[in-house]
Amino acid sequence: MKLLSPLRINGMTLPNRAVVPAMVTRLSGEDGYVNAAVIERYLRYAEGRVGLIVVEATAIHGNKSGPLLRLSDASFVPGHRELARRVHDASDSKIVPQIIHFLKVARSGWRQRIDSLSSADIDLIVDQFAAAAARAREAGYDGVELHSAHAYTLSSFLSRHNPRRDAYDGRTLEGRLRLFGRVMAAVRRRVGADFPVGVRFLAEEAIKDGYALPDAERIALRMAQLGVDYISLSVGGKFEDAIHKPGQPLYPYTGYSGDRCMPGDWYPALPHAEHAAAVKRYINGKGYQVPVISVGKISDPADAERLLAEGKADLIGMARQLLSDPDWVRKLAEGRSDAIIRCIYCNVCKQLDENFKLVTCFLWPKGTVQAPREDASGAGPDWDADGAGLAGEIRDGRVRLTWCKPRGEIAGYDIHRAEEDGEALVVEAVKSTKFTDRLALGGLRYSYYVRAYDSSGRHSPPSNRVTIDMPLPDLSAIAPAESSHA
Ligand SMILES: Cc1cc2nc3c(=O)[nH]c(=O)nc-3n(C[C@H](O)[C@H](O)[C@H](O)COP(=O)(O)O)c2cc1C
Repeated sequence: MKLLSPLRINGMTLPNRAVVPAMVTRLSGEDGYVNAAVIERYLRYAEGRVGLIVVEATAIHGNKSGPLLRLSDASFVPGHRELARRVHDASDSKIVPQIIHFLKVARSGWRQRIDSLSSADIDLIVDQFAAAAARAREAGYDGVELHSAHAYTLSSFLSRHNPRRDAYDGRTLEGRLRLFGRVMAAVRRRVGADFPVGVRFLAEEAIKDGYALPDAERIALRMAQLGVDYISLSVGGKFEDAIHKPGQPLYPYTGYSGDRCMPGDWYPALPHAEHAAAVKRYINGKGYQVPVISVGKISDPADAERLLAEGKADLIGMARQLLSDPDWVRKLAEGRSDAIIRCIYCNVCKQLDENFKLVTCFLWPKGTVQAPREDASGAGPDWDADGAGLAGEIRDGRVRLTWCKPRGEIAGYDIHRAEEDGEALVVEAVKSTKFTDRLALGGLRYSYYVRAYDSSGRHSPPSNRVTIDMPLPDLSAIAPAESSHA
């Protein structure tokens, strides 16, 4: 399996192709120091044998924010050193922090924009990136990732909305790339040629008049020319379309671009795979082999393997999937992908982040702060001798399913649904013994079954199947023949 094969990135050898991209945890206090809970979160990914662990956005400066890790001065280094050491002791996973510069935001909805920055302010940002990258090396990290995505400073310079009219002129691609070029050069000078420096930026801004794939391909080319060691792509997450909640600072994932950044359950799987494929094709065509990380609703090992086999990505980024089950790689390597707890993209984690609350997963047992560890003792859940008793009925145009609670400790139930003769896919995970399907379309036949799972990811056998023929409504009553299309 290509997924489980190593990849060398500038002296750093990843044991496999799975990456957990940066995900804010809100586990640090407002002081920004690494604490035991932060270490525990990243240790779980190492125990799960994730190839590359990217530590959540970590500030390079002292600007106020909610709970957020920092590397803005030397006092933060010992905590990060402990984090890197614990991860290295636990596995051959590699770990890099994502370093970020952001501008000020206020509860009134006001936000500082990049045209307010003087040339001295910009010089300071360049120095702060270089100093934080040097601290990352000093702390024993395997590399560093420059956050040039979403609503933050470097991304705002790359944006088609960049309002500057000086050397960083937003009207030209060269002007938009200038700050990143300066930051990359300064970082490289400080950390040396042999320290991996990755970048995260947007394949598409996903806002009105924002840039799209053609610019992203060329931005990637310049980043490759500047010597970045890997490219991690994201989409959206901008302030321009953020929805302001009174009394709260703007959160850049509340608008449409936020939906695109963390696509919810109503999006198809792999919505951004073709973006990564196009960027990779473009830079490879220009002679650069910089590895590209594809991200966005990837959770099925077969999908991940296909992306690699088809040359559409070099590395597979999974944020929410690895949050829900950090043992994804280990279970796959042990031939137990059936025991993976599959993310349902309900975005409870996103809502917690938005409200500055500890980021946890809806699928974890209630009240827990970290993903549960596998417990090999005892048997997994199983149905009683009478079976699951799955029953379905149509009420008010919805399919309602009910079933019996199986034996054993239960963390939840996966609902599998097949449409007509199609493959049965997990469409939802629930915690109680009932489910309502609001998306069944009249005129189609659906079949359902349920599997219970415990907090170790052990699944029960499938329940009995139920098949429901959704009646076709009277279409002539819905759309009378004489209706006009004025
Ligand atoms: C709770 C949460 C926090 C996130 N924090 C960051 C972050 O600090 N830096 C970043 O570049 N992306 C961040 N992201 C975006 C993810 O890295 C990822 O791009 C996105 O969730 C889509 O990938 P997925 O479908 O595999 O979850 C965050 C996402 C979530 C859900």
